[in-house]
This record gives sequence, C-alpha cells and structure tokens, in this order.
Amino acid sequence: MRIGERIRRIEEAEKLDQAVAVVKRMVDRVPEGRLRDVLHGVQLGHPAHPLLVQVPIGVWTSALLLDLMPGARRPARVLVNVGLLAAVPAALAGAVDWSRMRRRHQRVGIVHAAANDVGILLFGASSLARARGRDGLGRALAMAGMGAVGLGGMLGAHIAYYRTGGANHADHLVDLLPSGWHGIGRITDFPDGKAARADLGDVPLAVVRRDRDVHVLVGTCAHMGGPLFEGEVDGDCLRCPWHGSAFRTADGVVAHGPATAAQQALEVSVHDGAVSVRRPPRLG
Ligand code: FES
Repeated sequence: MRIGERIRRIEEAEKLDQAVAVVKRMVDRVPEGRLRDVLHGVQLGHPAHPLLVQVPIGVWTSALLLDLMPGARRPARVLVNVGLLAAVPAALAGAVDWSRMRRRHQRVGIVHAAANDVGILLFGASSLARARGRDGLGRALAMAGMGAVGLGGMLGAHIAYYRTGGANHADHLVDLLPSGWHGIGRITDFPDGKAARADLGDVPLAVVRRDRDVHVLVGTCAHMGGPLFEGEVDGDCLRCPWHGSAFRTADGVVAHGPATAAQQALEVSVHDGAVSVRRPPRLG
C-alpha cells in the first residue's frame, strides 16, 4: 500500500475524534484577537506555522551533523536546546491553524502533533543525557527524536499539500475571472449594509453595498472555501460565516484570521445604477 493511502486511512479513523475534541477544546481557549492572529500569521500575510517549524527542524538537523564531528559536543547540545525552545511557538501556531480545519485534517493533525510531541520529548531527554555527560545516549535519543519529527513532518505535509489545509482556497477562482467589464446587476439589487451574492461566469462574488459605495470580492473564502457572500458586514470588513475571518471590503486584505491570504477584490464601476466589475488588469 502506498504511503499516501496509509495516511488517508488516518483521515477516516473515527476513533481519533475523542482526542480531537479534547485537544480542540484546549486550543479554543486561545482567545480570538491579536494573539491568535499573530499565531496564524495574519500580520505576515502568510501562514506562520510553516515558517516557525524551520527553526527546530534546522537546528536539530545541524545538531545531528555536529554529533558526527569530534569536539562539537557543546555546540550540538546548545542546538538541541535552541530547538526545544523554538518548538513551542511552532507548535502553538500549528495548533491554532488546526483548530479551524476540517475533521479529516484534524484527525491527521492530531497524529502529526503526537509524533512531534514524541520528538520533542526525545530531544528533551537527549538534552538531559548530554548535560549528564552521557553523550552516546544523547546522540541516540536525538536520532530517534529526528525520526519522530520526520514522521510528524510527513503528516503535516499531507495536510498542507494533499488536503490543502493551509492553502488559499480561492486562488484558482482568480484565474477564472474573465477580463474586461461585466455587469452584475442594478445597485438596488444589493441590500444596503449587507453582503449579497452575484456571479461572474463560474466565480461567485460577494457584493457589499453601503449606500452608493459598492465593493466586490471573490465570494469563496480564501481560508477554507466558505461562502463569503453569506457573511456579515462588520464595520469596513466582511466576516466569513464559517470561521470568522474578516476581510476589508475595499481591498480584501485580512483584518482577522484564521485566513492569512487576502481575498481578491474586483474593480467596480457604477453608472446610472448599473454595477459592473472587472478583474484587475494587473493580474494579467
Ligand atoms: S472558510 Fe474559514 S474563515 Fe472562511
């Protein structure tokens, strides 16, 4: 059986649901707001978790290489400890992303986290062994830890790539937007202060009108594909009904996560009450 098929069996494992529910309740205690946005990567406009995991993986890999060299005991131990410190924000960022994913992502994600936790424990034990002068044991524990982290990384890659858990779920729609101006209705077709749906070819749009001011975003949420046109207008933002990501209606920039990718905004023209939109020409 191919390895991808084995991982897909984890997606179907209902027995993981209890553990998912327990951990999700704990992660949901991280309040909505700035801390959660930082952990998602909203301010970066890029998911933070895949950036943060580079540090522990990088320094632990370097420690293993130093273990092969004579006279590098001390720097190897320092790198093991740096990795342990760096694993904390990486794990927190992954946990808040995971808490806003689909069930099949979460089943694989809980095994991904467990493998990484085993890896962290093994590197922690390696650090203790090295501190007590038992360098041979420290090296063996670090190698075992790297194996666990490697398994965890493979499961994380499955969530991110196979199941597009961290991808922009609206990006393909940008390519389906036809070029040139297209009418989408009369301004009175769109309720004042609320989101409404229009369609441009195969692309759903979220239209937000405030008096004579009309803003139009691609209507499928970049985070997980939620129906943004059913969202709630909140100040100058449109909030997704699925997980609450807030996008500025004027330009689609993310004001609050879990989304980190901006929602594509269309150019809008209103003439004699007729609303027209076009895909921004700079997109090519
Ligand atoms: S689908 Fe998750 S916030 Fe929109």
